[in-house]
Amino acid sequence: QTPLRVGVAGLGNVGATLVRILQKDAADLTRKLGRQLVVTAVAARSRSRDRGIDISGLDWFDDPVALAKSDGIDLFVELIGGEDGPAFAAVKAALEIGRPVVTANKALLAKHGVTLARLAEESGAQLGFEAAVAGGIPVIKTLREGLGSARIAKVFGIMNGTCNYILTRMGNEDISFADCLKDAQALGYAEADPTFDVEGFDTAHKLSILATLCFGYEIAPNEIRVEGISRITQHDIKVAAELGYKIKLLGIAQRTDQGIEQRVHPTFVPKGSAIAGVDGVMNAVALETDHVHELLLAGPGAGGPPTASSVLSDILDIARGTRVPPLGVPSHELLPYKQAPNRAH
Ligand code: HSE
Repeated sequence: QTPLRVGVAGLGNVGATLVRILQKDAADLTRKLGRQLVVTAVAARSRSRDRGIDISGLDWFDDPVALAKSDGIDLFVELIGGEDGPAFAAVKAALEIGRPVVTANKALLAKHGVTLARLAEESGAQLGFEAAVAGGIPVIKTLREGLGSARIAKVFGIMNGTCNYILTRMGNEDISFADCLKDAQALGYAEADPTFDVEGFDTAHKLSILATLCFGYEIAPNEIRVEGISRITQHDIKVAAELGYKIKLLGIAQRTDQGIEQRVHPTFVPKGSAIAGVDGVMNAVALETDHVHELLLAGPGAGGPPTASSVLSDILDIARGTRVPPLGVPSHELLPYKQAPNRAH
């Protein structure tokens, strides 16, 4: 078989890790796939920045759209980030010519997911986005392929590694919110603008992607009631602990008689519950279906290696020719939003 030529746009933490894995594990991946997987081209802002990877032999593009459309690649990986701008233009350009795309960009999908999914379905291109929700946890695969006909009643979980890292450390040490955030940034967990993490918007992006898959419901992150963790103090955490709870930032979406309710807020969870045990940079997504009462998927939710590993799993599926079921994005008759009540989980 001919090699699968991969183009990577965006060489930040995740992009550089992905290129490193693809180069280092090339022989292993070829053995597994029976086909060579090679990064042939990259696009990024700075050519000279030291990223600890060798990009000297690769085609260089300043413009990610030109890379997305280039004849020198078979699959386009978007790791630029941002809900509009070059990320949207490049993904759209690739899908329009029927080229498979893998992205980790939750903000992009939360805003343009329906448009992009429709484009992909029209042109027959695959659109992989496992890494967009809950880093290394295969939650998208589970939803698209694993649950069969199960009717999902509720999805909820810890979807931001930075917030969970901060809340966990504040629960274990006498450390301030600001110091924990600095450490999360240094460890490569936080977004370029950490407001997205700590004010709950990143969780809202991920929740709206999950809600669309769970409920066949148009993504609209602006409709979610969102409250972040920036006002949580050591005092709040201590009071919660005295009452037998931990504070976790949860994203929650559930089917109700009036429509789909979606919310993101700091939540008291009972100590001893499965979700309370998910500490540090870990994420967890719980699904309640009519067949399975509660399925909890937990694992590392942020950082270069877990996120790059989910990007890689989408690339491998596409290289193998695995067709995932269509997203089933609704074209009309959307369920109404229900105003989320101001109450705890
Ligand atoms: N900033 C995100 C987080 C990265 O902390 O979870 C993974 O999406």
